[in-house]
Amino acid sequence: MKRVVLLGPPGAGKGTQATRIAEKYNILHISTGDIFRANVKEGTPLGKKAKEYMDQGLLVPDELVCDLVEDRVSKEDCANGYLLDGFPRTVFQAEHFDAFLERTGAQLDKTVDIEVAEDILLPRMIGRRVCRQCGRPYHVLTMPPKVEGVCDVCGGEVYQRADDREETVLNRFRVYQEQTSPLIEYYQKSGRLAVIDGSKTPGEVFDDICALLGE
Ligand code: AP5
Ligand code: MG
Repeated sequence: MKRVVLLGPPGAGKGTQATRIAEKYNILHISTGDIFRANVKEGTPLGKKAKEYMDQGLLVPDELVCDLVEDRVSKEDCANGYLLDGFPRTVFQAEHFDAFLERTGAQLDKTVDIEVAEDILLPRMIGRRVCRQCGRPYHVLTMPPKVEGVCDVCGGEVYQRADDREETVLNRFRVYQEQTSPLIEYYQKSGRLAVIDGSKTPGEVFDDICALLGE
């Protein structure tokens, strides 16, 4: 049973690592970004609201996020644990989630903060492509899919996210600094934080995370 939070700026490699970690530990990968993008694609009321914020690189309001995640981790497929990718994103979300954990008698094992300098992040984001179906990230230069435009794993369409244009990415970095980076101190204070150097290769970062999470 493992409950893990992945923290880190846009492009740090949360999605890249999450797919691998979820597979190794047989826990569910929950990406709030992927959930919102699926809702946008389906044109649900939640998707319509979320899109207004996402397209500008802003955070979706807390009240649309907290219950969604708490309901999701309460489902049976999370009985063996889960990995939260992109949640919490504000101190309000972290406190709300801690109150939920306490109510349900559960605890987080670790919050893994993947640290990467901004000048490395920008080219990662601009070159990123993502599978529309399963969310797996690729990169046009460093990690292209075997067949252009087609996901290696599920055969879905590989596309560029609407919020990966340079201007929007810079906005997302700003939002991260202002609203999400305070979580580093929040989790440090309660002794649940581990910092990982995300500038290494994806394989090295994965090994470092596994060393931290144990068997
Ligand atoms: P979300 O989808 O969570 O985006 P993000 O946090 O900005 O992070 P990214 O997905 O962009 O980056 P990543 O760390 O997953 O990097 P990746 O592995 O893809 O959120 C999108 C939006 O949804 C938000 O802006 C907000 O509007 C909304 N939202 C979501 N959650 C919310 C919440 N809780 N509250 C409010 N709003 C919320 O890697 C990036 C690229 O780098 C890829 O091309 C990859 O191939 C490459 N790469 C990865 N690792 C390496 C490496 N080690 N070396 C070289 N290249 C690498
Ligand atoms: Mg991601």
